[in-house]
Amino acid sequence: MGLATWQKINVEANSPYPVFLGVPLEELGEYLSSQIEEVEHILIITNQAVAELYSERLKQGLLDYRVNLLTVPAGEMEKSLERLSQLTTAALRCGVDRKTLVIALGGGVIGDLAGFFASVFMRGIRLIQVPTTLLAQVDSSIGGKVAVNHPAGKNILGSFYPPLAVWTDFTTLESLPWSEVENGLAESIKHALIADLDLFEFFENQEENIKQRNPSIWQEMVTRSSAVKVRTVSQDEQEHGVRALLNLGHSFGHALETEMNYHGVTHGQGVSIGIVAAAFLASAKGLMTLAEVDRIKHLLSIYGLPTTIKGQDPQALLQRMKTDKKNQGGRKILILPQGIGRTVISKDCTDSEILAAWIQVIS
Ligand SMILES: NC(=O)c1ccc[n+]([C@@H]2O[C@H](COP(=O)([O-])OP(=O)(O)OC[C@H]3O[C@@H](n4cnc5c(N)ncnc54)[C@H](O)[C@@H]3O)[C@@H](O)[C@H]2O)c1
Repeated sequence: MGLATWQKINVEANSPYPVFLGVPLEELGEYLSSQIEEVEHILIITNQAVAELYSERLKQGLLDYRVNLLTVPAGEMEKSLERLSQLTTAALRCGVDRKTLVIALGGGVIGDLAGFFASVFMRGIRLIQVPTTLLAQVDSSIGGKVAVNHPAGKNILGSFYPPLAVWTDFTTLESLPWSEVENGLAESIKHALIADLDLFEFFENQEENIKQRNPSIWQEMVTRSSAVKVRTVSQDEQEHGVRALLNLGHSFGHALETEMNYHGVTHGQGVSIGIVAAAFLASAKGLMTLAEVDRIKHLLSIYGLPTTIKGQDPQALLQRMKTDKKNQGGRKILILPQGIGRTVISKDCTDSEILAAWIQVIS
């Protein structure tokens, strides 16, 4: 492969697969022809904006294959059964069959939608994830979760469907708007907080380089953050145990996003505030010091991520958490940091402790 600096980390799951980091889009075809048997037809699923930016580069390496490209509009609302049905109609028109290989080219929305399509089309066809957002590279393309939304909630219809490989070209991040970078940074900092103190310090020390998108620093950031996700899902592919740690900040963040009706707070912002609320709760339970909470708040804020939210009702937010799908038998399951670089699953948080944590992040 062209770049001297590419790396491969394997996800050790029921069906193991490699995550290639720092590989050019143009070279995916070479990998397919040498490693994946019986591929003649490829279906690229992407959105219009990503297609304009990157589909030609990807297709350059796929000249030996019959290739169709389907685009869907951008946006979370595209993760729907209606869009899945339309994709199916379009795919059948392109002659997609059980031997076709799907390439999901895009951010987490495309990865989830195209992945879910691949998982159910004719009971499952082969899939390669080609993530192009920071969030997708460090998080959503790894671990095999694919899903569409339902009016009753996000990701209600989904499955575990590991790809044959994840193919990550860091150069695609050059065109990513900073608001989207923030969503990925929130998850990357979360990974550091969960399991990698050195990565947390890297974020503290590399502020300028990260903000200026220094390529080698971004490469290191994505690689180290992806490695946390790979290690975690390798230990627990189907979320019976440690994989739940990846939900740090998400129970609080999700409650906030739903309470605000997904307006005025992005997913990354919700996770950021959620991480801070979880840190306050952890400090109240003696799992970390207030100085460590401040250190977390400082790190999030230097990257423009919020650590407080204005004008919310803590009681309403607490109520929202009662319907979290991670809860078990009425007990709230919360992921709490234990210092920096370690995390625990807590099943004994009381409503008043959670309420106190919400109050800390409402300004
Ligand atoms: N499956 C999982 O394990 C998992 C984990 C986390 C999140 N998710 C899902 O991921 C989704 C969010 O993903 P996301 O944050 O990547 O958002 P996204 O997929 O909506 O992408 C964000 C925007 O960036 C644009 N874009 C993508 N790549 C680009 C590039 N290289 N340059 C310029 N613009 C680009 C897209 O067109 C889109 O407008 C949610 O649906 C969430 O549920 C899934």
